[in-house]
Amino acid sequence: VRVGPLRELAPFPMGAAVNVSLLRSRAAYQGVMTTEYNSITAENSMKFGALHPSATTYNWTDADYLVSFAQQNKMRVHGHTLLWYTSLPTWVTSFSGDSTAWEDLMRSHIQTVMTHFKGQVASWDVVNEAIDDAGALRNSVWRQHLGDRYIDRAFQYARAADPTALLFYNDYGNEYSTARRTGIINLVTALKSRGVPIDGIGLQMHTSSNTSDANIANAINTAAATGLKVHVSELDISMNPSFTATTTFTASLAAAQKVKYKALVMAYKALPAAQRHGITTWNVSDADTWRRGYCSCPEWPLPFDDNYAKKPAYDGIVEALQ
Ligand code: G3I
Repeated sequence: VRVGPLRELAPFPMGAAVNVSLLRSRAAYQGVMTTEYNSITAENSMKFGALHPSATTYNWTDADYLVSFAQQNKMRVHGHTLLWYTSLPTWVTSFSGDSTAWEDLMRSHIQTVMTHFKGQVASWDVVNEAIDDAGALRNSVWRQHLGDRYIDRAFQYARAADPTALLFYNDYGNEYSTARRTGIINLVTALKSRGVPIDGIGLQMHTSSNTSDANIANAINTAAATGLKVHVSELDISMNPSFTATTTFTASLAAAQKVKYKALVMAYKALPAAQRHGITTWNVSDADTWRRGYCSCPEWPLPFDDNYAKKPAYDGIVEALQ
């Protein structure tokens, strides 16, 4: 039996999100990316503020580096993300125009970014996290200034800018919150019924040892029941979900994490091939995870350890793919 690399074992794209400065500078990081993965997402470098730091300037340097790295290594690029409620530059959060000016701001950002990457970014998270924790439409600056239907128009502008790109709605919590899952599924179902050009749903899957395999499978299957493509877009599995005093990654934690990775990949693999956009982990190794900064606690959520060696979690993915 084959034991990897993931990009050769999987019948769908396997990806990771990258920190571009690590991609530029760390050989082991580049090595895992080129060996294991055939899809790549920018963890931060394609966000609004990274690409569009002031009203009149765009900065393509890091994102272009990522795209050319992907092309050299025959990887698909997934774009993350055109519209999000947070990580916005202050020129946007303090923008004082009327609704027409806001519409121009939204449209021109989407058009400019998607035109720059036209034909090079295969799919985009057009809107990220528009549902709040009660399952309602989040009261983001976009909604405040543009109304509830800003999402429809964002997808329409995106389709017009690059008709070949697949367009995704991306959000979190489908696997642990009924309110979130219901709100997200109702949103994408309404978009589809209004004829909005949406191709897929991104399930972030920042999940944890606390979430049951059944709930993970339910999130995947409920998303697939919409008929849209499904991208597991930001996968990591926290083994310290309550930020408690755990200080070492024990063999039993590693074994439990392996089982959970395996269950998730098995559930995903059971989807019809045409609906599998792929699985993307949120960064590469435990050394690189956002979670350590977020919790200020020990964390080991990814398939590679701090030294870029494969963990039991990696073997769990392999077993699910075999
Ligand atoms: O690059 C600056 C650096 O120059 C500065 O010195 C430093 C000081 O704080 O900040 C650096 O920027 C940080 C950036 O990550 C790069 O490391 C930002 O403060 C920090 O807020 C940012 O966090 C990112 C976060 O999104 C907010 O944009 C995380 O890396 C990233 O993993 C996280 O990713 C999100 C997804 O986009 C959406 N879903 C949830 C996921 C996890 O929160």
